[in-house]
Amino acid sequence: MFQKFLRVFIATFASALVLSGPVVATPAKEAPWLPEAAAYRLTLFLGNLEPIPWNDLETAWSEPYRGSEFPVGALAWLEGESGVDTDPLLDAIAGEDRQAVFAEATRLIALRIEEELGRAVMAEAPATAQQAVRTGRELYRAFEDGIAAADPEAARRIGLAWLELNSSTGSAGVLGAGGTSADRDTMKAARAIISGYLAKNYLVDDFAPRQMLSTVPETAALSGRTIEVPPSLPPGSDIFDQVPLPLLVLNFEEQGIDETDLPLVAYGDMLFDSPQIFGSPARDLGISCSTCHNRSDINQRLFIPGASHQPGAIDVDGAFFNPIFNDRRDDPIDIPSLRGLRFTGPYGRDGRFASLRDFSRNVIVNEFGGDEPTPFMMDALVAYMLEFDFLPNSMLTPDGQLTEAAPEAAKRGEAIFNTPFAGLDDRSCASCHIPDANFLDRRAHDIGSVAPTYDGARAGAMDTPTLLGTAYTAPYFHDGSLPTLASVVDWFDETKSLGLTGAERADLTAYLETVGAADDPYETFDTENTAFRLAFSELTTFASTLDTLLPRRDAEHILLLTDTVAADLAADASTMSNLAARPEVYALAERLAEVGTAVRDEDWAAAEASWSAFKSEADAIEERAF
Ligand code: HEC
Ligand code: HEC
Repeated sequence: MFQKFLRVFIATFASALVLSGPVVATPAKEAPWLPEAAAYRLTLFLGNLEPIPWNDLETAWSEPYRGSEFPVGALAWLEGESGVDTDPLLDAIAGEDRQAVFAEATRLIALRIEEELGRAVMAEAPATAQQAVRTGRELYRAFEDGIAAADPEAARRIGLAWLELNSSTGSAGVLGAGGTSADRDTMKAARAIISGYLAKNYLVDDFAPRQMLSTVPETAALSGRTIEVPPSLPPGSDIFDQVPLPLLVLNFEEQGIDETDLPLVAYGDMLFDSPQIFGSPARDLGISCSTCHNRSDINQRLFIPGASHQPGAIDVDGAFFNPIFNDRRDDPIDIPSLRGLRFTGPYGRDGRFASLRDFSRNVIVNEFGGDEPTPFMMDALVAYMLEFDFLPNSMLTPDGQLTEAAPEAAKRGEAIFNTPFAGLDDRSCASCHIPDANFLDRRAHDIGSVAPTYDGARAGAMDTPTLLGTAYTAPYFHDGSLPTLASVVDWFDETKSLGLTGAERADLTAYLETVGAADDPYETFDTENTAFRLAFSELTTFASTLDTLLPRRDAEHILLLTDTVAADLAADASTMSNLAARPEVYALAERLAEVGTAVRDEDWAAAEASWSAFKSEADAIEERAF
């Protein structure tokens, strides 16, 4: 579960994995995209949102994409690299004409590929030709998934043509010796294959209207066949876990109870990590509850263009995850921590759900388009989440008073926190953030942090958030608009005219930082106590619920478990530092997949046998699982 993209990879090839043995996947961050290819992929992604974020789409071409290795955006890049005219595309964007944008952007990429192919064929020096082939091939990647989905045979043929092109460019040799000249005929033949396909499918004068913008070739789109291109996130997306990894504090563990003795909780833990409970695209992208609520806390790096306005925030009711649930408002919300969840209801930043169960069902079914979960699944998920505890903090007593360990400034700040202010309607900070009630009051208030959405609207009330653990959950407020705890203090001082001096602001900030602190906020890893060991122990714990599910012949829940955990275990194995033990972990993942296969065949004896084998093999490698 530490390599989300890998899980996607494995999930896609899960059946291949089981049949053909271990797939050694490289834990790959996606290779960087060329600026215009990135802009194109972003254009398709944003063009499928409703309403289309035209500003973002414009920016996709004018600025470097998030995390880009290139210092300039696509337009500036093209100016230097290419003779292709960008005006038609810019006109289409300015005219907010979706179909024209699709057509012009698609043609632009096809023309760029043609340009590089032309350069390759004309080049005098092999090095120049090779560079042009490389660039052309990189640009072709922008179309590749659509061709592979619609026309695998063409994808293979064109793939070979690129290889031929590359090998027929000739080589300069070493110090003038052993050079070979370009094989122009082979080059031209290979080029003709690529150009012919582009002409029919991507350099089209008049594209048929598309409901869903995609890289599916025009001839296939016209055929009327249903073609499923696997969902992908555009360049600049980031759904990897944040580093460092938040420490997970579970109530039962603090009491010395082992999760393997709590099958319902362990199953809920598994569901919290399972993309399988969602519909597409979340499921296919490997997104689960823990992608955002990392280890019960937050994922500060999560970012999806068009759905996030800054890292750590996401519009969960936007167009991307489930069109039916789209509220058509561009309102990304900063991901809230779920620590101490049993004390923090009602749920939702605005407190609109009294019940955690209803909230979570809504997440699965409406936000992420999953099937209706079974009552058992909801029981399990809720049972697990109710175990999330706050981080221990030795500067604070359980009833929210500072201990001797707290700094002096925080002690001075505590007095300010408890002082009523006229600007707060004669309340104090502590009236809402009640120290002996986990610094919240379980009520919604309109403190003026939500801009009215229309003239005369009653501005939104928000549920008072806890202040525990907040030293690690920047930025602040529901929209993440305040970067630091000091800026929250400034905000209250200014908007509520508290009249604090600079020293008082500093003291109040010190108090918030002390209340929000923790003895150990993050997981700590070393050479043997690795992230993989943690994942391994979690995954085998999840699997342990088979001891309960197999005797009950509960096929549905067993399969959900084996599909999730086998894929995760295989994906995580590729992150192991103990390379020698890696094949055994792949084998273990297959063992678990075998349980699933047997259950699908209703061969319960075989399922029991594979499960027993899994347990003894897991025990045998536990020591080396790092
Ligand atoms: C793509 C990111 C993302 C995923 C995946 C996700 N959440 Fe959330 N979650 C959020 C955001 C953003 C909010 C705040 C939404 C709001 O207030 O309307 C939230 C709010 C919550 C809350 C309310 C917390 C509070 O204190 O009010 C709960 C509970 C919750 N999520 C549980 C889940 C569960 C269970 C899953 C998996 C079934 C899940 N989430 C999946 C982003 C996510
Ligand atoms: C009337 C109730 C109320 C009072 C009084 C109040 N707060 Fe809050 N506080 C809230 C609400 C509601 C939010 C959530 C705002 C949002 O998300 O837009 C909040 C948010 C915060 C946050 C950000 C927490 C996070 O995780 O984003 C901090 C820090 C905070 N308040 C500190 C204070 C301080 C310091 C005072 C006194 C100066 C104070 N509050 C007074 C209700 C109150």
